[in-house]
Amino acid sequence: MSSQENPEENLPSVQEKTEHGSVAVADENPFADPGLPPHEHRVQDIDERAAKRSERAVAFLFTLSMLATIGFIASYVAFPVDKSVYIFPIGHISALNFSLGMTLGVALFCIGAGAVHWARTLMSDVEVADERHPIEAEPEVKAKVMADFKAGAAESQFGRRKLIRNTMFGALAMVPLSGVVLLRDLGPLPEDKLRHTLWSKGKLLVNMNTNEPLRPSDIAVGSLTFAKPEGLEEHDHDFQKEIAKAALMIVRIQPDDIKDKQELEWSHEGVVAYSKICTHVGCPISLYEQQTHHVLCPCHQSTFDLSDGARVIFGPAGHALPQLRIAVNEEGYLEALGDFAEPVGPAFWERG
Ligand code: FES
Repeated sequence: MSSQENPEENLPSVQEKTEHGSVAVADENPFADPGLPPHEHRVQDIDERAAKRSERAVAFLFTLSMLATIGFIASYVAFPVDKSVYIFPIGHISALNFSLGMTLGVALFCIGAGAVHWARTLMSDVEVADERHPIEAEPEVKAKVMADFKAGAAESQFGRRKLIRNTMFGALAMVPLSGVVLLRDLGPLPEDKLRHTLWSKGKLLVNMNTNEPLRPSDIAVGSLTFAKPEGLEEHDHDFQKEIAKAALMIVRIQPDDIKDKQELEWSHEGVVAYSKICTHVGCPISLYEQQTHHVLCPCHQSTFDLSDGARVIFGPAGHALPQLRIAVNEEGYLEALGDFAEPVGPAFWERG
């Protein structure tokens, strides 16, 4: 065997001088494997009362985790968003954020600390030497892993220490509840709010720019007028929410040019009112071509023909714009005859 095949041949020998001056050679390997130190038993291995104390400590940590999770949920319910507290040395912070962070942190920490303490004091404490082996697992290796797993489960006393097992299950089962209660922050359910707008029978059409009720004579041929429902003011708390559904565009078309029969019936002397909200993804439509009666959404170029029921003639929008049925009241102002017949905006009715 060459020295390359046996690296230990290349190791230096230890040379010592004898009392007669000759040199003795000691064939000791300075890099020899020192082996495992003598095994020392833990106090829990030899004293059942110490093992019981450790068991109670682990159970205490898991129980503390459960209480912290309950505290997390209670904090979420109890503390208003705007309440602040003084915490030294941080200063004034949100009571809700502080309590949520603290309780969730304690819940997770106690699970981790309980598991570590359990492993260090009660699970098997036997040193095991294992030879290096190829990465690819042989069937026998898989079988051995399964056997080791079962042996490990048995040695961890998972079945015998019912107190630990049950409190650990409780702690692990309750921690996800923290995430579940946060789902409430997604907001209240929309209920039927997307199906209705502020338009109702008798509501006047008010010019968005002048804030004045509109008469048919205010709508010039070729112009595009934007309107809102009477009573909706910009300083209202819900203005943005309501105008996002109720915004209206009004044009005047020669009645003979209107091809759609219902559109003609729902108009007044060629004045037609349509939702301004694009049925693709809800952009406000703002470009009107007088000659063709086409309106164009600037976001993705959906084009609607206002002389033909506002049907889509180009672009990604999937539906015609909803039309508002209008008439003129006794004072000569344009008024709605009800709400839109279908939900406005991006294809909501398909989700119905
Ligand atoms: S939002 Fe109008 S085309 Fe996309």
